[in-house]
Amino acid sequence: MKKVVLVTGANSGIGLALCERLLSQDTEGVQLCLACRNMRRAQAARAALLAAHPTAQVDLLQMDTSSISSIISAAQEVKVRYDQLDYLYLNAGIMPNPQFDVKSFFKGLFSSKVINMFATGEGILTQTDCVTPDGLQEVFATNLFGHFLLVRELEPVLCHAGQTSQLVWTSSSNAHHSAFNLEDIQHQIGSQPYSSSKYASDLLSLALNMHYNKQGLYSSVICPGFVMTNLTYGILPSFLWMLLMPIFWLIRIFTNTFTLTPYNGAEALLWLFKQKPESLDPYAKYHSLTSGFGINYTQPRKMDIDLESSESLYEKLLQLERDVKSKL
Ligand SMILES: NC(=O)c1ccc[n+]([C@@H]2O[C@H](COP(=O)([O-])OP(=O)(O)OC[C@H]3O[C@@H](n4cnc5c(N)ncnc54)[C@H](OP(=O)(O)O)[C@@H]3O)[C@@H](O)[C@H]2O)c1
Repeated sequence: MKKVVLVTGANSGIGLALCERLLSQDTEGVQLCLACRNMRRAQAARAALLAAHPTAQVDLLQMDTSSISSIISAAQEVKVRYDQLDYLYLNAGIMPNPQFDVKSFFKGLFSSKVINMFATGEGILTQTDCVTPDGLQEVFATNLFGHFLLVRELEPVLCHAGQTSQLVWTSSSNAHHSAFNLEDIQHQIGSQPYSSSKYASDLLSLALNMHYNKQGLYSSVICPGFVMTNLTYGILPSFLWMLLMPIFWLIRIFTNTFTLTPYNGAEALLWLFKQKPESLDPYAKYHSLTSGFGINYTQPRKMDIDLESSESLYEKLLQLERDVKSKL
């Protein structure tokens, strides 16, 4: 039986690299479903995957994770197409209008925190968020709430007696506790909606384990490291990236979190595919790492999360789910 694997945000970057690596590993053993908002890019991704793996089964699904109605109709379609989903990679993400704090950057560049600054973006990255037509903060809706709703809608194909299914969240090292507030889960106030949404995904993964493990559904969180993708290219003008590249390759020798390529960044996503979900630590974030010699590996690191906050967030998300559904 082929394993059915759905990946959100699969048309580029880390999501596409994961699809490529899954097919390279076992072309006949997986049935991929690329869930993307832009069908033109989705078709291009599918064509590229099939060019390298002509016998692979690669399905497409239109889904905008920032839109409630899109999530609900996409989930409906999934339930019609597949009896069971074995893996659901919650990978789509945005970091809109990133602003780079040049002053903090140069201060950090000549301090002992330089590697942490590059690795986590702490203190140098802010974003300007906006509100979706559903009335939600866009970063929260895209990165977190749309995925939460998707999991809830897909319960019938994710929870099966005697079988396990896995959720895998693409989080970040930029998921800082300090950016998240339980009284403002959408991050309406503040300038770090990305960091807030990623911290919320760390918390939510723990709550999902508490509520769904008995039904055979397990949730894990990964960090891909620092990867050059459309998301990171949006942070700085291209000439600055050109100037910084030599520094990055130099830092890469000293820090394993500079994975740099989508292939390397997808390491932990692929590693989790091969694990028994029951053996995973719900408090760990699984990091894709690349050594100075270019060797990829995965390492668990404890997350800065607690059960009480995770449950509070879960309750708030359930309430929001009821609210948005009542408006449909
Ligand atoms: N790159 C890094 O260093 C890094 C570090 C930590 C975490 N991450 C996380 O890794 C994940 C993948 O990002 P990436 O770096 O690979 O960047 P990317 O190449 O920009 O990929 C992001 C993917 O998400 C999709 N997406 C965005 N908004 C969407 C929406 N509303 N509905 C459906 N799909 C949507 C994009 O589709 P479109 O083509 O339609 O925009 C794209 O396929 C993200 O969750 C990101 O936060 C990245």
